[in-house]
Amino acid sequence: MEATTDTLVIKAPKKSPLILRMVVLLFAMVCGVYICLVCLKQINTHTKTKFLNIIAINHQNQINQSCQVPDLEKSEIGYAHYPKPQTFKRDECACNPVRYFAILSMQRSGSGWFETLLNSHINVSSNGEIFSVRDRRLNVSSILKNMDKVYNLDWFSSASKNECNAAVGFKWMLNQGLMENREEIVKYFKKKGVSAIFLFRRNLLRRMISVLANSYDKDAKPLNGTHKSHVHSPLEAEILAKYKPKINATLLIRELEQDEEAAGKAVEYFNTTRHIVVYYEDVLNNRTKLNEVQDFLRLPHRELKSRQVKIHTTPLSNQVENWEDVEKTLKGTSYETFLHADYQLPSSPQSALTNFT
Ligand SMILES: *[C@@H]1O[C@H](CO)[C@@H](O)[C@H](O)[C@H]1NC(C)=O
Ligand SMILES: *[C@@H]1O[C@H](CO)[C@@H](O)[C@H](O)[C@H]1NC(C)=O
Ligand SMILES: *[C@@H]1O[C@H](CO)[C@@H](O)[C@H](O)[C@H]1NC(C)=O
Ligand SMILES: *[C@@H]1O[C@H](CO)[C@@H](O)[C@H](O)[C@H]1NC(C)=O
Ligand SMILES: *[C@@H]1O[C@H](CO)[C@@H](O)[C@H](O)[C@H]1NC(C)=O
Ligand SMILES: *[C@@H]1O[C@H](CO)[C@@H](O)[C@H](O)[C@H]1NC(C)=O
Ligand SMILES: *[C@@H]1O[C@H](CO)[C@@H](O)[C@H](O)[C@H]1NC(C)=O
Repeated sequence: MEATTDTLVIKAPKKSPLILRMVVLLFAMVCGVYICLVCLKQINTHTKTKFLNIIAINHQNQINQSCQVPDLEKSEIGYAHYPKPQTFKRDECACNPVRYFAILSMQRSGSGWFETLLNSHINVSSNGEIFSVRDRRLNVSSILKNMDKVYNLDWFSSASKNECNAAVGFKWMLNQGLMENREEIVKYFKKKGVSAIFLFRRNLLRRMISVLANSYDKDAKPLNGTHKSHVHSPLEAEILAKYKPKINATLLIRELEQDEEAAGKAVEYFNTTRHIVVYYEDVLNNRTKLNEVQDFLRLPHRELKSRQVKIHTTPLSNQVENWEDVEKTLKGTSYETFLHADYQLPSSPQSALTNFT
């Protein structure tokens, strides 16, 4: 009993409370300063390592640990992908990065020709106009689902190259749900790291003539009863070029303005995404323009070829029934240049076989 009381007495010593309080206060202050310092340091390292974290996350989610991933430039992060298709294995090319792209264009602007050129590259799969089928673009969730399939390499078309793809994409006309759903699509492109390739035709009058001729062909089908938007022989081209559409001169200027506006708006809407603008005539005049496209998609350079044949090779004045009206309407306007030949026809027969209108 004695001992217990003794210890109790020792446990409650009457030491100076002032010193004790000072010690506690000092300790609290030191702790506070330390916590502040740690916080500041973390904020600092957080901003510094943000860039590295993205790579780490990408690695974990997207690729097999055994891949040796190249050091990417900062601007490249988010654009090099390692998809894991559900329908096949990428095998020996599983560690090759894949770029996602979409060719955004308008009808009769040479995008079919442009796409066959791209597809002649051994590492490119451009899967055609997937949204020409109305069901696929009925609502935005359907659009996104179909794009997921393309970019995961699970879309099959005659263009699919499967395991050794370095760039995969498709062709999309501005009037195929693209403009209506642009907000969601821009968001998707940015999130997924999709690069946009705008392909436009400078001479919108030629485009208009081509649209009219093509819609005539849809009904008349002079090629043995089948409608062909693109042809592969000079004979077919000659037959299709026989038709001369009549252009409504009253509406002409307004329609050209509308086309120009549509193209400008599209580029503006997608201006925050990674993109380039390519003109059909520029590629036609100078095939090395395609190197810029290959660089844009980070592809090894290859000579690109197409078997398509240009439908209209005669002067524009021979292609329209009421040429005089058209000439009169456009003279003195900013569209006057459309009346003149705006590019040189290729001189060698070999290269003539690779163009179309
Ligand atoms: C990773 O690669 C190895 C060897 O190529 C393969 O056996 C394995 O299935 C791959 N793992 C995944 C998750 O793809
Ligand atoms: C979207 O369209 C698809 C058909 O393409 C349909 O099956 C689906 O139910 C639609 N979803 C919504 C949310 O309307
Ligand atoms: C391109 O394809 C070839 C053959 O399939 C393959 O060997 C090569 O690694 C691919 N290149 C790229 C950059 O993916
Ligand atoms: C139409 O069909 C015939 C017989 O199959 C063929 O010889 C001819 O070349 C075809 N014409 C065109 C323009 O395709
Ligand atoms: C041109 O189009 C307008 C508006 O659709 C129409 O009123 C006019 O008759 C057309 N002109 C010709 C020559 O077809
Ligand atoms: C994109 O276009 C919008 C609308 O014209 C403009 O306000 C914005 O500055 C543009 N952004 C860039 C990055 O060019
Ligand atoms: C063709 O295009 C390339 C690349 O854009 C350019 O360097 C070259 O000067 C052009 N050649 C001609 C003849 O315009």
